[in-house]
Amino acid sequence: MFALFAASLLAVSAQASAACRCFPGDACWPSENVWTQFNQSIDGRLVKTVPLGTPCHAPNYDAAKCTILRDGWTVPEEHYESSSSVMAPFFANGTCDPFHPVSKPCTLGNYAVYAVNVTTPAHISKAVQFATKHDIRIVVRNTGHDYSGRSTGAGALGIWTHYLKDLEIHDYKDKHYSGKAITMGAGVQGFEAYEAAEKANVQIVGGECPTVGLAGGYSQGGGHSALSSRYGLGADQVLQWQVVDGQGNFITATRDNEYSDLYWALSGGGGGTYGVVTSMTSKAHPGTPVSGLNMTFTNAKISQDTFYEAIARFHTRLPALVDAGAMSIWFYTNTSFAISPLTGPNIPEDDLLKLIQPFVSDLKELGITPTVYSKQFPSYLSQFNGMQQEIGVGEAQYGGWLIPRSVVQNNNKGLTAAYRQITEDGATFIGVGLNVSRQVTGDVSNSVFPGWRDALIATTITTPWKWDNDKEMLANQRKMTDSYMAKLTALSPNSGAYMNEVNLVLDLEHRYSVLTSLSQADFRQPNFQKFFFGKNYPALQKIKAKYDSKDIFYARTNVGSEAWEERKDGRLCRVGQSSRTAEHARDL
Ligand SMILES: Cc1cc2nc3c(=O)[nH]c(=O)nc-3n(C[C@H](O)[C@H](O)[C@H](O)COP(=O)(O)OP(=O)(O)OC[C@H]3O[C@@H](n4cnc5c(N)ncnc54)[C@H](O)[C@@H]3O)c2cc1C
Ligand SMILES: *[C@@H]1O[C@H](CO)[C@@H](O)[C@H](O)[C@H]1NC(C)=O
Ligand SMILES: *[C@@H]1O[C@H](CO)[C@@H](O)[C@H](O)[C@H]1NC(C)=O
Ligand SMILES: *[C@@H]1O[C@H](CO)[C@@H](O)[C@H](O)[C@H]1NC(C)=O
Ligand SMILES: *[C@@H]1O[C@H](CO)[C@@H](O)[C@H](O)[C@H]1NC(C)=O
Ligand SMILES: *[C@@H]1O[C@H](CO)[C@@H](O)[C@H](O)[C@H]1NC(C)=O
Ligand SMILES: *[C@@H]1O[C@H](CO)[C@@H](O)[C@H](O)[C@H]1NC(C)=O
Repeated sequence: MFALFAASLLAVSAQASAACRCFPGDACWPSENVWTQFNQSIDGRLVKTVPLGTPCHAPNYDAAKCTILRDGWTVPEEHYESSSSVMAPFFANGTCDPFHPVSKPCTLGNYAVYAVNVTTPAHISKAVQFATKHDIRIVVRNTGHDYSGRSTGAGALGIWTHYLKDLEIHDYKDKHYSGKAITMGAGVQGFEAYEAAEKANVQIVGGECPTVGLAGGYSQGGGHSALSSRYGLGADQVLQWQVVDGQGNFITATRDNEYSDLYWALSGGGGGTYGVVTSMTSKAHPGTPVSGLNMTFTNAKISQDTFYEAIARFHTRLPALVDAGAMSIWFYTNTSFAISPLTGPNIPEDDLLKLIQPFVSDLKELGITPTVYSKQFPSYLSQFNGMQQEIGVGEAQYGGWLIPRSVVQNNNKGLTAAYRQITEDGATFIGVGLNVSRQVTGDVSNSVFPGWRDALIATTITTPWKWDNDKEMLANQRKMTDSYMAKLTALSPNSGAYMNEVNLVLDLEHRYSVLTSLSQADFRQPNFQKFFFGKNYPALQKIKAKYDSKDIFYARTNVGSEAWEERKDGRLCRVGQSSRTAEHARDL
């Protein structure tokens, strides 16, 4: 028996030591026949990728279809109904989309080769085992919203969770929580949960974008919401995860059972890392009225000094707003400012107006007359539908940093100066103002990046995306890292960034070189461990090693990803080992 055990260990290590994942064209890549057998074993759920942009390129060009695709490319729906498309244009890598010449043939590029259109946990377990056996890269894909392209990958088998749509609202009780809860399949999106919650007169913490997947990257990576200053982040709501781990085992993880370490890691430690979640149970809070307010003003008839003074004043007024349970989204360029919206869960409209009054007085004093609109709604869903703005995708590059409350309190001048330099350079500021401290979340235990607890402003900086100008996109990425983010990091070097809303933290030139070859020489050591995970990183690494002992789950900037690199052709290889090139593999 010992000999058998040793032999199987050897087999595993022989496989694990192969430097690169098996890639299409390699001798190790399964034959059509083997894929067909796999398809039969998963009830015929295997989908071969046909990139979404195919009708936009010869020889399959179809002008009418391509026009529809082009018009809808910035709408999330178009991408999440596909088994492979992703919304972040940088990671789609321009290999098949409506914005490149018709004559350029469509290639798979950075898209997965196949996807399993999952409808049961068993499909996931079989996919994990198949990919492990053949040493094929896995990508876990839900909606494809991820800004860092973590739901796509060259040469991969996708595990596509979109159709896991079960949803139930029920009572729940454990040592830490007693009340209503929602159990949802991994494919449930914000709008589906909000609609169910509305009917049951409860509130669910979910994103401002109604189509983000709640149990996928959102809650696993943190998850901020218009309800967050009232209840905390998405990850703070989770009571139970059902998950298929890296060995294909079915596990139910809660805060107190034998899988509490996995529960802790999945609640904030990053999607696509420890296993594939099949369902999540989260707190469902009692329904309340929700008020909303929006406001705009511009720099017309005032000096730029006055315009930025007004912005500085808003930031000083934020702590009182968020401590009362409100959450604000606001954005500005160097010419216009908008709060869009301020959300007050269980805050009557009159009280919300009282809370904003000091800022309105500030503006009056500065000679600014804003346009203000406010309204009270009977529920979260009605406020959401009435006030939240639609958010387009594929239109920008993003950088992000969490600004602690102490920076606003002690160095608001420095902060405003940094934001001013950034926006005067042409970038757009987007802020999420919230309070997700322990006082708000209550008794929770999870791996949410600790910097969230002191954060007042989750800052996002964007520059416009242009499909036809790689050089400018690279230059903007450099600026984002070396200039914009550098200014914010300097103000709060011990803070970090929200892993879900940034594709550009310090290692972006490396990623760019991987995808496009423009910048081979500029590799810089990524620092994502510190900025996305902080002190939780070592513990998360241990938990990953335990539940993903064969290291099959990889995605950029996730825990453990430093062990891998993506080559120019997209091939995923272990760092520091000689590659199993296509030629070498053919020789074998
Ligand atoms: C327009 C837009 C608006 C957004 N608004 C918000 C917001 O208001 N608040 C907020 O916090 N964030 C927001 N985000 C960011 C969002 O949280 C992330 O994009 C998140 O990763 C989306 O998760 P997903 O599962 O829907 O997407 P995907 O891109 O499909 O997946 C994201 C990551 O999660 C992993 N994953 C997905 N499903 C599973 C699963 N079942 N098991 C294990 N891993 C899985 C994937 O492998 C990938 O690494 C927004 C993004 C966009 C594009
Ligand atoms: C998998 O099987 C189903 C049902 O037979 C079929 O429709 C589908 O095309 C197959 N997928 C692939 C990639 O062959
Ligand atoms: C991305 O595009 C670049 C430039 O067209 C190409 O060199 C590179 O191989 C592509 N990478 C992938 C994974 O498709
Ligand atoms: C995936 O499965 C769902 C549910 O069975 C089905 O409606 C959908 O058409 C499938 N999508 C693809 C691309 O196979
Ligand atoms: C957040 O608000 C609570 C009141 O709900 C307050 O006690 C706490 O101090 C605030 N958090 C921070 C970081 O100030
Ligand atoms: C404020 O919200 C109302 C209601 O949704 C909308 O009609 C109006 O355009 C919004 N104004 C701004 C400035 O966002
Ligand atoms: C705003 O920024 C743009 C782009 O950098 C710049 O051209 C313009 O002069 C700026 N305007 C003001 C009022 O600062």
